[in-house]
Amino acid sequence: MSFTAIERQAPVRLYRSKLFVPGSQTKFFEKAAAGPADVVCLDLEDAVAPNDKEVARKNIVAALNDVNWGNKTVTVRVNGLDTPLCYQDVLALVEKGGERLDAIMIPKVGRGADIYAIDMLITQASAAVGRKKKIGLEVIIESVLGLTNIDEIAGSSKRLESLHFGAADYAASQGMRTTNIGGGNADYVMLTDKDEKGERVRHWNDLWHFPLFRMVQAARTHGLMAIDGPFGDYGDPDGFRVQANRTAILGCEGKWAIHPSQIALANEIYTPPAKEVERAEAILAAMDEAHKTGSGAAALKGVLIDAASIRQAQNIVKQMQMIREKATS
Ligand code: GLV
Ligand code: MG
Repeated sequence: MSFTAIERQAPVRLYRSKLFVPGSQTKFFEKAAAGPADVVCLDLEDAVAPNDKEVARKNIVAALNDVNWGNKTVTVRVNGLDTPLCYQDVLALVEKGGERLDAIMIPKVGRGADIYAIDMLITQASAAVGRKKKIGLEVIIESVLGLTNIDEIAGSSKRLESLHFGAADYAASQGMRTTNIGGGNADYVMLTDKDEKGERVRHWNDLWHFPLFRMVQAARTHGLMAIDGPFGDYGDPDGFRVQANRTAILGCEGKWAIHPSQIALANEIYTPPAKEVERAEAILAAMDEAHKTGSGAAALKGVLIDAASIRQAQNIVKQMQMIREKATS
């Protein structure tokens, strides 16, 4: 292990599903608060029409104070730093949004200095109004600039909690040819060599592998959560499932739901599989036993387990504890 230890900076919280609700659609607020998503994100950015921005901001400030959000993590996506709305959104949330707000999500981040600027604004405004709870920051990586500077961004503030991948804006920024947000493209393929009958098979490739892998790597290096973004075709649960499975395997802790039907899928897929939980619990029990007898390593079903296995097992067991607690609350 390096002398540089990676501490988890992100709070330990469930983040399997993040439901987006436009700030202009107040009729969905109570439903979102009572629903099964781990996280609710009230949106001031792209899901809100330009003429509705002011009213959406007022709606959100009111809802943060008045709606019972129960045990949900509540976040708000503000407008980007390239707009005159960004500072107004941030100030309204910090000054008038009450203590229920957990984090502010910043879209289209391009450099660490973007986060530095927002952190400064939040810090000053929080001190001015005597805020008690620390407001976290969430970053959407959704531009070529953001992906290029991702390490600088991931290390830019102690408020940072998570990096999210926004496939729609990312595709636009890079000039990619995509058809469905976060989905595949039938022309992004490899051809196998000819077989004995002279036939070749088309293999689809994953357009999103590189940016997602890079994002998870940067997030973990800085102790942050990595969250997969939107899957646009909410009439395609199989497509959602396959995409979510891949990113769960890569190390993402959750995925956005841009439609309520995607919440249950995300909750299921980002819950550790029963077999992994069983094994993690067995590892912790075996290590406990080994420590009692003064040994640093143990064997489980003929496989060596050591300190690294314990850390992984502890993560899984802790996450499962939170899921069970939520299910009974
Ligand atoms: C999300 O904001 C995206 O652009 O995909
Ligand atoms: Mg976007």
